[in-house]
Amino acid sequence: MVDIHSIEGNLPEKFFVSGASVCMPCSELYYQVCAIAEVAGFLWQRGWAERNGGNISVCVTDCISSSYKDRNPLKTVALPLTHPLTTIIGEYYYVTGTNRRMRDVAVNPMGNGAIIRVCKDGKSYDIIADEVIMPTSELVSHLEMHDFEQSNGRKQIKAVCHTHPTQLVALSHNPEMLKPDVMTRLLWSMIPETRVIVPHGIGIVPYRQPGTIELAAATIEQLAGHDVVLWEKHGCLAVGEDILETFDAIDTLAKSADIYLDCCTAGFKPQGIAPDMLEGLVELFHLN
Ligand code: 13P
Ligand code: ZN
Repeated sequence: MVDIHSIEGNLPEKFFVSGASVCMPCSELYYQVCAIAEVAGFLWQRGWAERNGGNISVCVTDCISSSYKDRNPLKTVALPLTHPLTTIIGEYYYVTGTNRRMRDVAVNPMGNGAIIRVCKDGKSYDIIADEVIMPTSELVSHLEMHDFEQSNGRKQIKAVCHTHPTQLVALSHNPEMLKPDVMTRLLWSMIPETRVIVPHGIGIVPYRQPGTIELAAATIEQLAGHDVVLWEKHGCLAVGEDILETFDAIDTLAKSADIYLDCCTAGFKPQGIAPDMLEGLVELFHLN
């Protein structure tokens, strides 16, 4: 969960909640949604969120008041899953709406997203607040990722962010980069921070159609061994303890990709940090 005190002085002034809302100003949920709005703005400013590109989900179970938890759902929707979700039954998530602009999420997150609850059958969800805004078309990938992390004991993982970072997507158009570990090693070797901030590297998912269960299944496979997953010729997803952490991981990888591409544009292949120096960082920063 995001540390609310770290963002208290940095709230987006334009974030408003109209009428009765589950997201009451100054409530715990309000601060979580503020952090989501802040990151949505970063994604737009970075140029990674063309039109409705990208989506966000954050577990907010601990921030929903009991009066809202007891309310009847506004709508119940079936999930197109091959097997039911198991570990996240009854959990609440803020999710961005499908076809919504990230730059609109930045200024009005509750008008461009919804709070959902995973139903007992593990194959459907309830929309509980504020309005019936249909969640992102990538909801299956998001919920599978949350379920995977929780069932593997990574209870602290609360956020998933999907975005379209131009430089990472550009690299994914080179088949050489899609071979196991090639992109991870390249990006690690551009600056030491990338080795430290993204210690498990980037997993590659071969091109699959957006929003499909095939894409979700392939994503889970890669999530098992990596911090961030790259969807070939599409975008990437990161998981984290809060939404800011997911942004930091993608931002750091994108920085490395920028350095690599800038060197290529300048007419030379970057030398990269030597492998033994990268190994040294593992010991220095106690990376697993
Ligand atoms: P949504 O608008 O449904 O969230 O889709 C955006 C996207 O990036 C699909 O991969
Ligand atoms: Zn996408």
